[in-house]
Amino acid sequence: MLRPSFAPGLLAVELPYRLDAFISHEHPPAPTVRRSCGVFVTGARRLEPFGPSLYSASGAPVSFLGVPYPTRMALAQLPSGAIWVWSPIQLTDQLATEIDAIGPVQEIVTPNKLHHLFLRQWQERWPGARLHAPPGLIRKRPDLQFCSEIGDEPLPIWKEDIEQVVFRGSFTMEEVAFFHRPSRTLIIGDLIQRFPEDSISGWRRTLMRWDGLMGDRGSTPRDWRLTFLRRGSARRARAKVEVWHPERLLLAHGECVREGASSLITAALAWI
Ligand SMILES: [Fe+2]
Repeated sequence: MLRPSFAPGLLAVELPYRLDAFISHEHPPAPTVRRSCGVFVTGARRLEPFGPSLYSASGAPVSFLGVPYPTRMALAQLPSGAIWVWSPIQLTDQLATEIDAIGPVQEIVTPNKLHHLFLRQWQERWPGARLHAPPGLIRKRPDLQFCSEIGDEPLPIWKEDIEQVVFRGSFTMEEVAFFHRPSRTLIIGDLIQRFPEDSISGWRRTLMRWDGLMGDRGSTPRDWRLTFLRRGSARRARAKVEVWHPERLLLAHGECVREGASSLITAALAWI
């Protein structure tokens, strides 16, 4: 059975199992809605340049407690010309055509075990691409053919441009943070989420604010933080991120940062 993906904090713990069924993110894509800030506007899933040899694409929102929850993926062109894909969104013919125009999809990674919904779709579209699993996903998706489990060391095929570190110590879920060196971009799935204050209203905004996911104070979902019982490893991971001194921050959920991201990242991960 597939499990929820693209979950915000209240799902990150993944306990109890029945809660998943109630607020499953594997509902069909949510209807398109428009907000003044645009965060919940589903785009055409077009590739957009994010930095040198780095692109992003916004996916169709997925439903969370009735709220359309925005998603985003990243794509990097390696020095070889091959394409490295991060956290793939639902694929469309248009998006596939745009990617094919850039280069061959060769490596597909995802940041944590909740971001797995569309891996099969991408692997079927590019059968020569190699899938790499974050901690916990090989066990969760035995139906997929993974080439490796992602650790702290980048594979030779992408290490020239991309670094990585695993935030370990949670008893529910660990996340891999990637750093794209040419654009100095930190790429994060669920570890930092930054929803604009005016993108949501009512009790849902109160809930998201309480969970630490709103605006410039966006951070890690509070319930997920509680599952990091041993934080030494996560602190070492954070120190590695700080050494990278990222200029940009590319997120799966919420507003990205295109300059001066380092201080914001430090503040967002201060809880560790
Ligand atoms: Fe997510």
